[in-house]
Amino acid sequence: MQFQWYPGHMTKTKREMQEDIKLIDLVIEVADARIPLSSRNPDIDNLAKNKFRLILLNKADLADPRKTELWSEYYKSLGYFVVQLDARSKKGMNSIQNIILEACAEKIERDRKRGIKNRPIRAMVVGIPNVGKSTFINSFAGKAAAKTGNKPGVTRGKQWIRLNKQVELLDTPGILWPKFEDQQVGLRLASVGSMNDEILNKDELAIEILKFLLKEYPGTINARFEVEEKEVTDVLMDIARARNCISKGGELDYSKAALLVIDEFRSGKICRFTMEVPE
Ligand code: G4P
Repeated sequence: MQFQWYPGHMTKTKREMQEDIKLIDLVIEVADARIPLSSRNPDIDNLAKNKFRLILLNKADLADPRKTELWSEYYKSLGYFVVQLDARSKKGMNSIQNIILEACAEKIERDRKRGIKNRPIRAMVVGIPNVGKSTFINSFAGKAAAKTGNKPGVTRGKQWIRLNKQVELLDTPGILWPKFEDQQVGLRLASVGSMNDEILNKDELAIEILKFLLKEYPGTINARFEVEEKEVTDVLMDIARARNCISKGGELDYSKAALLVIDEFRSGKICRFTMEVPE
């Protein structure tokens, strides 16, 4: 499958983010727990050099819990702070405040030694599209959050949300772009729905998803669609039959079945899954 990307308009975004990052202490990076590698752009390590770092493995409710644990340990071993999160239902949100303080302990201590009191930690949320940045900001900030308005040294229009005495959050997330190093990355992003669907061949994508499930999560297709798990194209055909995907001419409609597979996969109806494991 071929993927295309448009680096042009991203240059501006990157420049803006470089400016924003100068203002903050902590980078809160949101990743999709189902693809904890492919949903990150490693350039952030360069952009966020010398900043405290927190990775949120979001949509953990849709991911394979055992693998999320592996990723969590992996990123911790690289020196990041990590939280497994379901920003939509707010599961995991309780621990965020404390982790932020822990991640920034060095700064808090530095301020204390210099006699600086009540200087809040400034944080910014970053991530590729669709990983749940806005959902997280809304969940975290809640209704009570007060916007602190423009401040000197802050790009005009930038707003800080004061979460409490200790933390301020930039209200707009920094958008990273996915890194299509190889086709696998593109395929995984497409599978979880983090790519413009217009540019995808859905029939091919459904076949790839079914192949993945047959290999990594055997038994789940059978449980969901009540079809036998055999050669992948036969499986799609059986799903079309089982779900009554029929075209106007009365024939089996594979494209309709493909859309159904993609939709149920992405929304977690087939099973909880993770498409990659740490090295
Ligand atoms: P973004 O700012 O990074 O682009 O992502 P955004 O918050 O808009 O979230 C993208 C989609 O992911 C939304 O679904 C959102 O509800 C969903 N989402 C965010 N966090 C989680 C999570 O932890 N678990 C699950 N299961 N879903 C999550 P949507 O279909 O676009 O909108 P909606 O139907 O939820 O309104």
